[in-house]
Amino acid sequence: DLRGGARNFSLDAEAGETPIKPGKATPTWGFNGSYLGPTLRARRGDDLRFTVRNHLEETTTVHFHGAHLPADCDGGPHQAIEPGGSWEPEWTVDQPATMLWYHPHPHGNTARHVYRGLAGLILIDDDVSDGLDLPREYGVDDVPLVVQDRNFDGDNALEESETWTSTTGIIGEDVIVNGTYGPYFEATTRRLRLRILNGSNARVMNFAFDDDREFLQIGSDGGLLTEPHRTRRALLSPAERADIVVDLEPGETVVLRSLPVEDVGVGSIFKRFNGMDDRLDVLQIRAADELADSPEVPAKLAEIASLSDEPAAERSFRLAGFSTINGDSMDMNRIDFGAQVDTVEEWTVRNTDEYHHNFHVHDVQFQVASIDGEAPPPPLAGWKDTVFLEPNRDYRLRMRFDQYTDPDLPYMYHCHILFHEDFGMMGQFVVL
Ligand code: C2O
Ligand code: CU
Ligand code: CU
Repeated sequence: DLRGGARNFSLDAEAGETPIKPGKATPTWGFNGSYLGPTLRARRGDDLRFTVRNHLEETTTVHFHGAHLPADCDGGPHQAIEPGGSWEPEWTVDQPATMLWYHPHPHGNTARHVYRGLAGLILIDDDVSDGLDLPREYGVDDVPLVVQDRNFDGDNALEESETWTSTTGIIGEDVIVNGTYGPYFEATTRRLRLRILNGSNARVMNFAFDDDREFLQIGSDGGLLTEPHRTRRALLSPAERADIVVDLEPGETVVLRSLPVEDVGVGSIFKRFNGMDDRLDVLQIRAADELADSPEVPAKLAEIASLSDEPAAERSFRLAGFSTINGDSMDMNRIDFGAQVDTVEEWTVRNTDEYHHNFHVHDVQFQVASIDGEAPPPPLAGWKDTVFLEPNRDYRLRMRFDQYTDPDLPYMYHCHILFHEDFGMMGQFVVL
């Protein structure tokens, strides 16, 4: 039963200057400003209407990452917006409450456009999440974090060159959060919900607190988990999200960090080149001397109907050499296959390299049915649109493309390490 309101959003991609690292303003790009873009909020059932304008001097697109939408509203490489041009996608939100994001997707140029600052968040609400006693006051006890690694040169300007050892594109030595260098947050509540996006181009981040305290992961890319998962780590590859709740003591200071990534089968030399050995401070949290009470996180969160028992169309995908999937590089004029609408698909995805890749599918949230035949760990047991691929393991993903068909306009699947995506580690499918 979808009865929502109309929501109009306007996004203007523009060039500007931002003093990210104190000292000197650096040329950056943003939506409706000079770096990143506004957080958009909508409810399941709302009719979204966007006016997207491109004030840049080059072609870009705006892709709604994780959104279930018609192919002509996806904002992938086929929805190019010329300099001075505009684009007006519209669709009705029909997916569970979660945090999505939007970013450019121009073929071959995505890494540079995102690195310069074009990205933003979309928060979706629904009746299920409203019915749960979770922290929900935006910017107070429900705080989104766009976490990005960046390099700065001697003038504190964004550094866009890569080291020759990189197999992944730019790995930044500094972390910025919501466009802020050296960030801190002043907490006023006993429980703090952080909705974390790894918005880096290539870096895999392994989130933890400096005192190794436990926290609850309550959601993943596409919605709430079935129940809170008590943990000390949240591993996010580029584009993945984690919704977490952490308890605070009055007057304390605690630091959210990214720790070295352990036990993921990536060769040690690649780990070093890819920044997976790094330890970085992400956000300092300063708790006030008096904290407002917060309710306990409910023991049951969302219902997730398993797709595992349904008959499925099977496909397999092998990622290799930072530019191919099943031996082919992305070709805008080649449709790799057609998926049948309203039918379950089972995709077996394998990273055949010794370094890291991940895998993202447009239009849909999928379920990780198994990893090398085993049930997925709790953080991967909810709705996902992007999954980190440990080398040489079979990830069985189950998904159903419903509602929207288009015989001509494709959706994408690709590695979300943007350097790999730009080099062609991407394919296209239509829903028929
Ligand atoms: Cu976030 Cu095809 O991308
Ligand atoms: Cu996407
Ligand atoms: Cu890759």
